[in-house]
Amino acid sequence: MINIQGLNKHYNKNHVLKDINLNISDPGIYAILGPNGSGKTTLLKSIIGLVIPEKGDIRVNGINVQDTPLYRNEISYLPQVARFPDNLRVVEVIKLIKDIRNQEADEFQLIDLFGLEAEMKKKLGNLSGGTRQKVNMLLGFLFDTPVIILDEPTNSLDPVSLTKFKKMIFEKKQQGKIIIYTTHIMSFVEEFSDKIFLLLDGRIIFTGDLQGILKETLESSLENAIVHLVDRNGNDKIY
Ligand SMILES: Nc1ncnc2c1ncn2[C@@H]1O[C@H](COP(=O)(O)OP(=O)(O)OP(=O)(O)O)[C@@H](O)[C@H]1O
Ligand SMILES: [Mg+2]
Repeated sequence: MINIQGLNKHYNKNHVLKDINLNISDPGIYAILGPNGSGKTTLLKSIIGLVIPEKGDIRVNGINVQDTPLYRNEISYLPQVARFPDNLRVVEVIKLIKDIRNQEADEFQLIDLFGLEAEMKKKLGNLSGGTRQKVNMLLGFLFDTPVIILDEPTNSLDPVSLTKFKKMIFEKKQQGKIIIYTTHIMSFVEEFSDKIFLLLDGRIIFTGDLQGILKETLESSLENAIVHLVDRNGNDKIY
């Protein structure tokens, strides 16, 4: 479904993505991990077409993303920083996105799930950080697309919302969707990931499942396994 080959991206002299190869074809939950600035957001934005790489091939369902924007109808996207005008009300931003995408959507179940009924008439600028994130999450799950890309969806969520979010992505997986997400909460990844891609300084230094990364590093937790791999690769000065 998503095939990336030889992807390279520079921001001026900063080589942010280096020869990225990545294939995702089966339904499931895929975690893109890595330290701050390792290139996770840039990689996700490249798939959406918000970042234009200078080299490489990105295909979604066989379609080269540079050929047509139509493939985006297959993708839902929660950006790491979603910015809408502060004076828009929640109800208005939902309508805006529905009008732009012009795809079937059922927001009521999500409003109920995230307990947003009382927030619908409030302006975005007056919401708490976590409530804003719930609105963004609602927008990320609003459309019935085969691919869902979530850039740090767990940001600012309280434990109750986090539990609801877990339920949501588990349901989406059951429905046969591909969910790709980034997070810095490793316990979440341990619970919810079929495959992990670990980025370091623009390169993928590990691809595999939780058992695989623990086995490779002989560590007992994902957090330690990642520190181990980042140290090992950093110390070797390969990158
Ligand atoms: N629009 C931009 N212009 C210039 N440099 C950028 C831009 N966006 C990102 N970068 C640089 O690209 C590198 C990777 O950034 P990116 O946002 O992809 O990292 P990340 O892995 O998502 O980090 P985080 O965990 O902090 O979200 C960083 O060095 C960053 O400064
Ligand atoms: Mg990021």
